[in-house]
Parts: sequence; C-alpha cells; structure tokens
Amino acid sequence: MDIELVESHEEAASRAGVLGLVAGPGLAWQGGADGYVASLGAGFERALERVGFKGDAGQSYSFDTGSESPHTVVALGVGEDPGSDTLRRAAGILGRKASKEASVAMTLAVEGQAAPLVEGFLLSQYSYDRFRSKPEPARTDSLLLVGAGERSDCEAGAVVADAVSWARDLVNTPARDKAPLEIQRRVAEMAERSGLRLETHDVPDLEEGGFGGLLGVAAGSDRDPCLVELWYEPEGAETFVALVGKGITFDSGGLSIKPAQAMATMKTDMSGAAAVVGAMQAIARLRLPVKVLGLAPLTDNMPGSRATKPGDVLTTRNGKTIEVLNTDAEGRLILADALAYAVEHGPDLMVDLATLTGACKVALGDTIAGVMGNDDSLIDRIEKAGEQAGERVWRLPLPEEYRRQLDTPMADMKNIGGRWGGALTAALLLQEFVGDVPWAHLDIAGPARWTRNEHYQSKGGSGFGVRTLVELVADLAEQGSGTTE
Ligand code: BES
Ligand code: MN
Ligand code: ZN
Repeated sequence: MDIELVESHEEAASRAGVLGLVAGPGLAWQGGADGYVASLGAGFERALERVGFKGDAGQSYSFDTGSESPHTVVALGVGEDPGSDTLRRAAGILGRKASKEASVAMTLAVEGQAAPLVEGFLLSQYSYDRFRSKPEPARTDSLLLVGAGERSDCEAGAVVADAVSWARDLVNTPARDKAPLEIQRRVAEMAERSGLRLETHDVPDLEEGGFGGLLGVAAGSDRDPCLVELWYEPEGAETFVALVGKGITFDSGGLSIKPAQAMATMKTDMSGAAAVVGAMQAIARLRLPVKVLGLAPLTDNMPGSRATKPGDVLTTRNGKTIEVLNTDAEGRLILADALAYAVEHGPDLMVDLATLTGACKVALGDTIAGVMGNDDSLIDRIEKAGEQAGERVWRLPLPEEYRRQLDTPMADMKNIGGRWGGALTAALLLQEFVGDVPWAHLDIAGPARWTRNEHYQSKGGSGFGVRTLVELVADLAEQGSGTTE
C-alpha cells in the first residue's frame, strides 16, 4: 500500500473516497480539521449529535457527503489524550469501514504518532485467503495521512504491520501445510530477505545435542521436528536478548489426547514461535541496535505408535530429567530445551512466548496474556512495551512454594502440577531452565487467537507478541538492559 503524508484536509478530501476525521470529547476536531468540517455544512455535526457521537474513544459514524470526493466522511472518536492503541484502533475502524475503497485519508491526530495509525490501518485490511475460491475483494491501495508526521514513522508502522501479518499467516495456515520443516523453509526465505542469519538443527543434530524434551514430544509424529535458530547481530549492539517461542505445529495432546472441541484450534499452538520470528523480521528491518537470538523449537504433538508415554522420563538439554505424566503438557518440554540452549549463549535477558496453558485463559480471559518471571524490572519493561503495543499483559506470580507440586521420586521434576494454578506451575517448570538469566515468560494461550473481527484484529491468529517484542527491543536499544539511568 502506498502511504503518503499530506498537508491539509482539503487536499486529502480531493483525493480520497473516504476521509476519517478524528475527534476528542465535545467534538474537538484534531489536526486542524475545523475549517474542513465547517465546509461540510451543519448537517454533519447535527447527524453526529443525533446518533450520540461525542468523540469518545471507540465511537465512529459514517456520513454520506453527497459528493464524489470524499463520498463518505467517517468521524472517529479518540477521547481525551489518546494513547497509541486508541489511535491504532481508530485507524482499524476506518480501515474496516473503507476496505473496498481504493484511496482513504485520515487525520494524523497526535504529532509523532503516525506509526500506530499505519499499523492499525494496514492490519485492518488483513485476511487469510489462501483456501478461498472467492478471495476478499480488492483492498485500499493508498492511505493519505493529514498533518505533521514523519515519513520514517509511517515506514516503521508498515514494517511492524508486515511482521504481524506474516505471523498471522503462519498461525492461520492449516497444520497439514506447516510441518516443522516447512516452517523452517518459510523462515529461511524470510531470513534471506530481512538480513537475518539462520542456523538449523535437524534430528541427528538434536540427538547429538541432547534435546530430549523436543525429541520426546516429536516421537509420536511422522513429521520431523527441528530447532530454528535465528541471529540478528548489528554492529555496535550493547545488549543481547534471547527470544524463545513455543512451536507446536499441532497439539493433539499426544497419548493424553484432547477431546475434539479442545483440539479444533490447536494448529495455533505455534503462535509463540510465529511471534518470535515475526518480531525478528521487524527488528532487523528497523535496524534496532540490539543483538537478538531467536529460537523456535518446532514439532507436532501426536499420539503415534512411538509416542512418549505417560510415565516416560526425558533428559533435557541441561541434563535435568522430567517425568512426563501428561503428554498434553508438551510446550514446557520443548521450551525447557530451548531455554537451556539460549542460556548457553550468555544473553543479558530472555523472553519466551507460549500458548502454554488453558489455565491462563481461565485466569485472564482470551485477550490478556499472563507474564511471569524472575526479574521485576524486566517484567515492568514488558508491561510498558505491551501497553505501547496495544497488547494486554498482566503479571501473575511465580510462587516458590508451588514448586513442590512438580516433585516426583522418579526424576528431577514431573511435567504437571496439581489441579489449581496451572499457568504458574508451568512457569515454575520453565524457571528450572533459565539459570540466572533475567527472564520473562508470556503465556499467550488466550490472545494468540482473536475470536471476532474488530478494529485492527481479525478472527483467527492475531500475531500477538510481535509488537510487544519490537517495543521491548526498541526500549532496550534506547535505555540498555540496566536498571540504573
Ligand atoms: N496448547 C495447550 C494450551 C492451550 C489451551 C492453548 C487452550 C490455547 C488454548 C497446552 O499444550 C496444553 O494442552 N496444556 C494443558 C496442560 C495440562 C495438561 C497440565 C492444559 O492447559 O490443559
Ligand atoms: Mn498440550
Ligand atoms: Zn500445547
């Protein structure tokens, strides 16, 4: 899509079929649009009053101008002092209303906030059409932003939207079309384009390397697992971050098989891996000066005849042993290996993302991720990054006293805890593999899948985590990883 900054609403109006005007409380038109609003005549504001449009965040109203250009003006409410996600959503609402319009314009409401507008607009145009014989009709190909903005902010917004869409595509792809090695092939293509270095680990390599968790989960599938290792090493980087994403290409539960209803959406169980790889694509294209290692352990979880059986014991990459009492608690087994492997490279901090537990969804619902970890300042940073990114995260505790739920006489730990607090016992197991590295874990079981079309979200894979990771790394680029100023 072509994105352009223009100076006046009059210019935008002459070139766009649909024009979005942004208002705060009391119909305070942003970006100097008053003159243009006046030119629409009294009927416009009268219509807004009639429908109760006051400029509150999330409100919108489409008004037919009776002329050609623009034929429709969309009033978009953003409330007092809009944050970046209010803007992202407003642009998403406009994008949805105008999706069949070739040329769309919008007020750049807050100076320096072009990026979230571009992100929201582009993401609202997303759909996964690969298997539809009638794809969605043609979409907007030109977006005009009215006001004082920077070209580079528009480009950054487009880079991030691209990365989120790339992750959504991967998540929405049916499991049969995304075997671990197929994902690796798609990552290789992307890495080539984006200037990332890819190292791959095939089965012999994983055996040699002692990745018993990943191999144990993969044992029940005919499709080979792999570990994708992506590097971004810009010159002059002072901080080194490791990102790890759960990549279960289909979670049947294994021999502890899931009921049909719970299995229906389990192609999305690689959303953590998609977020990590998507974020790395954006980080590289934005040239953020931080060294990043991205790891995605990829495998099916299937109940084939060679599958790991309840009661089996696996030896992981760092030598710790895990008794598998429920093969459906598989994410932690592959993350154990990947986290231990990340630690070996000596990162300053690590973040993992995983659709890890139904319990986290029970606790926080389906739009909020849980965040846990061993480092308060890292968790603070992630909370801030999530807020900026419009991805909701909420801190959950890591109660040391629950660790004994993982005790077993058979091994160093078992892979399930008791009945309650399942998101926490899962995170406590992961903690066994992070050593002393500052680490945070995001349980994205809820928000990895969006359940409805709204603003810039569409039903299906959401790409959740990409934007938070990019914000986090951008923050590290500015502030470094230390806590002192
Ligand atoms: N991938 C699931 C978690 C999940 C559930 C993600 C619903 C998204 C939506 C995970 O592998 C799993 O099966 N977890 C089990 C753990 C249990 C066996 C301890 C769960 O949450 O039921
Ligand atoms: Mn599972
Ligand atoms: Zn799973």
